[in-house]
Amino acid sequence: SVPDVGIDAIALSVPRGYVELSELAEARGVPPSKYLSGLGMRRMAIAAPDEDPVTLAVNAARRLFERSGASPAEIGLCIVGTETAVDHSKPVTAFVHGLLDLPSTCRIFEAKHACFGGTAGLLSAVDWIASGSARGRAALVVCTDIARYPLRSAGEPTQGAGAVALLVREKPRLLSLDVGQTGTFARDVHDFWRPLHHKEALVDGHYSVQCYLDALEGAYDAWRRLDGATDEPLVRTCYHVPYGKMARKAHRHRRMIDGLTEEVADASFVVEVEPSLDLPSRIGNVYTGSLYLALASLLNTQARELAGRRIGLFSYGSGCCAEFFAGRTNPEAAELVTRLQIDGPLRDCQRLTVAEYERLRAEDAVADSRPAPTRAAEGTVNEGGRAVYLGVDS
Ligand code: CAA
Repeated sequence: SVPDVGIDAIALSVPRGYVELSELAEARGVPPSKYLSGLGMRRMAIAAPDEDPVTLAVNAARRLFERSGASPAEIGLCIVGTETAVDHSKPVTAFVHGLLDLPSTCRIFEAKHACFGGTAGLLSAVDWIASGSARGRAALVVCTDIARYPLRSAGEPTQGAGAVALLVREKPRLLSLDVGQTGTFARDVHDFWRPLHHKEALVDGHYSVQCYLDALEGAYDAWRRLDGATDEPLVRTCYHVPYGKMARKAHRHRRMIDGLTEEVADASFVVEVEPSLDLPSRIGNVYTGSLYLALASLLNTQARELAGRRIGLFSYGSGCCAEFFAGRTNPEAAELVTRLQIDGPLRDCQRLTVAEYERLRAEDAVADSRPAPTRAAEGTVNEGGRAVYLGVDS
């Protein structure tokens, strides 16, 4: 029989600061409606120089353990998905391992494939558990990224930052995934990239949208051909959300492949997708974590009514690789979601003016020109034998 494996708990972390996109629009001389309804975004989270993918990942994982009741001692595999790592060699996972005191017997590595790295981590963790290699242990998958585009570029209003930590185990409380039932699509395209030493992404924006839709079509087609995949309808679908409108375009495309007219496909968006876009529209693109932020948003608002219901998940990573898969929300999810307080970290955030945001970006550039540390990671100091990473919540 197929093992029951999936996502047991979810936690987020976001930087302290955010910019209201209505204010950014004003500063850029663009009608606010372009960002708010044209792109479907409200805010973008902005990381300060002392907030990086390591601090975001550790804060999300700490919150995951505190809120879910799980213990770091249970973890036998830890994968960090990121496309904004802090080192070309040492994985973010090594910092996470140290700061969380994960067992020395835990396998750790980082997964990079643009926004697909988190899904690569999640599906590898699911297969590790389903194969029996886990021997009763759980996996920690953390997606962590800071999305930066040049100031005043078309991508600027789609920036964001944050981390999503996922606890993956047998008999999961939130979402049981259809193990081994995924539709994959890969192709070598040059839609979005970040050459070594560039902190800001380069993107062929309109082409990237087309690549996303082509990859969705390929992955969805592969998924639909799997035995039994379409036997039961997907009542909701979470998409990778570089910006809200992209999920709307994706859903229309997918439901038209199902044979719906454009009008019916668009009408189904409100029920099938919109509840998953609340958190993404308040945080921005978090790259590897973006699909899981959408899932967190959906469960945060609808876990009770979705008990026992099937939902679809679509992950896209530029370059590109995409995967379509599905899972079933578990009856315990609603009670656990209340304890997880998924959107809790957003409550303490502070609004930045556009001038403050631009100042942070300037400081960020200077932070990067500091000489590389020779022994320990930048920001890591040893206080009485305890490793402390600056910016991590204690
Ligand atoms: N009021 C309401 N809507 C308005 C408007 C107004 N005043 N002005 C324009 N709009 C609408 C447009 O009609 C358009 O809608 P449609 O897409 O439905 O046609 C929408 O707002 C955007 O307008 P433009 O196409 O003119 O926007 P742009 O060219 O300035 O930038 C973008 C759009 C190319 C997506 C840009 O934001 C970008 O480059 N973003 C980064 C790349 C990205 O996110 N790509 C997504 C696919 S790749 C991926 O998913 C990986 C990843 O995470 C990066």
